[in-house]
Amino acid sequence: MTSHSQLESGHTLERKSDLLVVADPDALAQEAAKRVVAIAEEAVTRRGRFTVALAGGSTPKRLYSLMAADPHCTRLPWRETHLFWTDERPVPPEHPDSNFGMVRATLLRRVPIPADQIHRMQAERADLDAAAGEYEAEIAGTFVTQPPDEPPAFDLILLGLGTDGHTASLFPYTPALREIRRWVTPDYIPALKANRLTLTTPILNRATTILFLVSGVEKAAALLAVLEGPLDPERLPAQLIRPVAGRVVWLVDQAAASQLSEKVS
Ligand code: 6PG
Repeated sequence: MTSHSQLESGHTLERKSDLLVVADPDALAQEAAKRVVAIAEEAVTRRGRFTVALAGGSTPKRLYSLMAADPHCTRLPWRETHLFWTDERPVPPEHPDSNFGMVRATLLRRVPIPADQIHRMQAERADLDAAAGEYEAEIAGTFVTQPPDEPPAFDLILLGLGTDGHTASLFPYTPALREIRRWVTPDYIPALKANRLTLTTPILNRATTILFLVSGVEKAAALLAVLEGPLDPERLPAQLIRPVAGRVVWLVDQAAASQLSEKVS
């Protein structure tokens, strides 16, 4: 089970996170792009490298396109950047549902990132357990300075929010929510009748910065439940995202924020 501190029953733990409400999807992508560039520049200055795990789905598409165009493209340190994914569908890169394929189309084809610094999740493989283990080894190999058993700290992890409160491929009432050792795990999602590969809370919650991107009125109820409702992470997996030492920034547009009691912008 998830550690006690995350499941103090009956209490809504103080969730330390920043919430920024912006006008619309374009403003969301612009604000996110500015923050990605700032985090990347600082990471390279401090550690000579920028490690980021990318969200899938449709919300981040605008952001990835902005990152591939000026002014952001020339400011991003592509030679020092390592791209990972937070999760992947059980399809090859050419499939329209592929998160890798979406990033390749919006970003990878237009930026000078070295090919061996693009770390694709091979979720199309028959043996997803092996694929998960190999991806974990690929992560460990990139962060060579870490103690081998301690999850490394990504400089940035981008996450979305599903209408059911899922994030990455951590879906309600699935075993992956309770994974406290593996950094990457396969999971069968009954609601989708499909397998997924996903990063797990041990590695997600080690990130230095987690940036949630949430857009659209269809996300308003889930966002309200996650941010202002009682703590119920089995039902609302996005509530599991509480970095140990890092920070969470919720970048949301007005439509998604329309049911929140507090308005911060
Ligand atoms: C995925 C994502 C997933 C996504 C949410 C929101 O593989 O689908 O990682 O967690 O972020 O489902 O998706 P949209 O941005 O398409 O609404």
